[in-house]
Amino acid sequence: MMMDTFEAIEQRRSIKHYDPTHQMPDEDVKKLMNAVLKTPTSFNIQNYRFVVIRDKGIQQELKEASWNQAQVLDASMVVLLCADLKAPVDNPKRYWYQAPTEVAEALSGMTLQFYDGKEDLQHDEALRSIGMAAQTLMLAAKAMGYDTCPMIGFQPEPVEKIIKLPKDYLLGMMIVVGKGIQPARDRSGPLDYNELVFENSF
Ligand SMILES: Cc1cc2nc3c(=O)[nH]c(=O)nc-3n(C[C@H](O)[C@H](O)[C@H](O)COP(=O)(O)O)c2cc1C
Repeated sequence: MMMDTFEAIEQRRSIKHYDPTHQMPDEDVKKLMNAVLKTPTSFNIQNYRFVVIRDKGIQQELKEASWNQAQVLDASMVVLLCADLKAPVDNPKRYWYQAPTEVAEALSGMTLQFYDGKEDLQHDEALRSIGMAAQTLMLAAKAMGYDTCPMIGFQPEPVEKIIKLPKDYLLGMMIVVGKGIQPARDRSGPLDYNELVFENSF
């Protein structure tokens, strides 16, 4: 049975306890990551990069770099969400390889004009794309019957070393994916609607 988007949003929780024996099949990884690759990016720069890890030895190393949070080892898969900081200025024409040449020329020109020489903006765009992809990943995983936990509780340097993060790439966050065996605590939140949502202006 397919899960409706609202149901996936309701049911997604940050799950900390996973069945350590569960293995995620290749076809599920492909299905999930292909959904993630539909996540929109500014100027279609597709600046996100993902390292998927289903190796318990590497997961153990990641766990040690993550204040020993159990879910890093016990989940079926760990995804490191990264981005190529230079994607906006690295031959952006290639992002439009299926579009007519004149469209590719025009859009790549605009992309370069928008990002060239603006390191802060390139950095912000990396985090924006990672954030968007993260939510796609968590909701798609939920719809496939998996649980997730988004994580920033890790030491970046050892993790960057483990995944051999290239120069000019950014490591944004980690998401573990697996079969939860214990529900999350009752939700705390959201805050009052009017504290978070404004009409027309603050
Ligand atoms: C960017 C980000 C980083 C997080 N890092 C961790 C983490 O390192 N460990 C953890 O157990 N939960 C982590 N969480 C989970 C949050 O605590 C959780 O999303 C929040 O309490 C709301 O609960 P819910 O996701 O179950 O709705 C993180 C969540 C986000 C969005």
